Amino acid sequence: MPTSYVAAIDQGTTSTRAMIFDHSGRVVASDQREHEQIFPKAGWVEHNAEEIWENTRAVTAGALATADLTATDIAAVGITNQRETALVWDRRTGKPVYNAIVWQDTRTDKIVAELGALGGGQERYRDRSGLPLATYFSGPKIKWILDNVEGARARAEAGDLLFGNMDTWVLWNMTGGPDGGIHVTDPTNASRTLLMDLDTLSWDEGHAADMGIPMSMLPDIRSSSEEYGRVRERGVLAGVPIAGILGDQQAATFGQACLSPGEAKNTYGTGNFVLLNTGTEKVMSQNGLLTTVCYKIGSNDTVYALEGSIAVTGSLVQWLRDNLGLISTAAEIEEHARTVEDNGGAYFVPAFSGLFAPYWRSDARGAIVGLTRFVNRGHLARAVLEATAFQSREVIEAMNADSGVPLKSLKVDGGMVVNELLMQFQADILGVPVIRPVVSETTALGAAYAAGLAVGFWASEDDIRNNWAQDKEWTPSMPEETRQVQYHNWKKAVTKTFDWVE
Ligand code: G3P
Repeated sequence: MPTSYVAAIDQGTTSTRAMIFDHSGRVVASDQREHEQIFPKAGWVEHNAEEIWENTRAVTAGALATADLTATDIAAVGITNQRETALVWDRRTGKPVYNAIVWQDTRTDKIVAELGALGGGQERYRDRSGLPLATYFSGPKIKWILDNVEGARARAEAGDLLFGNMDTWVLWNMTGGPDGGIHVTDPTNASRTLLMDLDTLSWDEGHAADMGIPMSMLPDIRSSSEEYGRVRERGVLAGVPIAGILGDQQAATFGQACLSPGEAKNTYGTGNFVLLNTGTEKVMSQNGLLTTVCYKIGSNDTVYALEGSIAVTGSLVQWLRDNLGLISTAAEIEEHARTVEDNGGAYFVPAFSGLFAPYWRSDARGAIVGLTRFVNRGHLARAVLEATAFQSREVIEAMNADSGVPLKSLKVDGGMVVNELLMQFQADILGVPVIRPVVSETTALGAAYAAGLAVGFWASEDDIRNNWAQDKEWTPSMPEETRQVQYHNWKKAVTKTFDWVE
């Protein structure tokens, strides 16, 4: 009997989920587990990688059980992951030498400044890697581990330690771990390390030498869609080919069928990430965006993207819930926001990890400005939601400037797109329609597509285009003058967050 489904593992910042899709791209089953967010100091964010691997196994088993399926029903599995989060582990024992250092973590600010001081400042690695030098990316995080964990550098130089982002960690474990685990990644993940050359899709020895990272630690860079190996006995999908890897934002771009130059999506997750497909042309940003690999399907040409990365959007709502206790569920934020007409003059700039695109200011910290005694909980709830939309407009403006072609509409996905008030405000503040697809789980879907294409479950990218369907569209209705005034106020609020860290 032919296999009828493709599975995807989505190892995200706050949780790990497994999803099973049928040929039409419909979700058949899913399971999800959150993992602990570890904050040892201000600015530090870590994950326990062994907990993540356990969760991966549990949710994979859970999704299969929900759909009453076994490994023989699954044609292939794809992996998508939070990007940049860096892990170093022992190839013989499989034990991490330190917790995974998460993409939001800013502990490498001194390392970043020292690397910039070698010459070139923040632009030192831009030409080859497409990225500004910033705490966001993996390379400086690896250096921190090698510099600070006792004995780690010597073990790395002896060839005993491996580096990986979460895709590599999960895949290595699924394929046997210390017992023959396959150590690979794809160009979408590798392009977030500051260590990969965007043209050759290979590691740059000069960049690695700057950071004191032995080449033997780095995984092989393969394409985003090919069979890397099969799940070993210790995985619940035993024998199934692992055939797709895409960083989560690139996976969402793929799942949203942004497959032609000029097509863009915005994912509303922990942070927001706008990616614009620029085709086989690598566009270098003049306006604070990243140049990154969008996907590479087998031996096809590499497709590139411009990316506007925003560190804190959905995680601001979580912060209100978990750190301040102002709401008890994320959904309550919309209820409070609906009690008022507007933000009452308050603006909330969530520069918790400094500011990413288009500013790249690690010295920034969060601020609420414009407060008066008039401001109540509803106004603050609105300011929280509006921060996501204002930040999205900033990166889309940068994208319009870089590409010279203004965006005509925006495809959206991710957890926050259920928030109708936010979606309307997003359309209002951008002045273009916002469009939500029927399947909003586009991240997992994109990884499933990459895997399914590699094994012939889907024949071509046309299948992906045909599966995409619109659910809802929001059209702008805010008067132009209001839009301008509000955005002007937001820009002013942003400047209040600068120079906070000396
Ligand atoms: O670059 C970070 C991004 O990949 C994280 O995405 O959805 O896990 O917050 P998410």
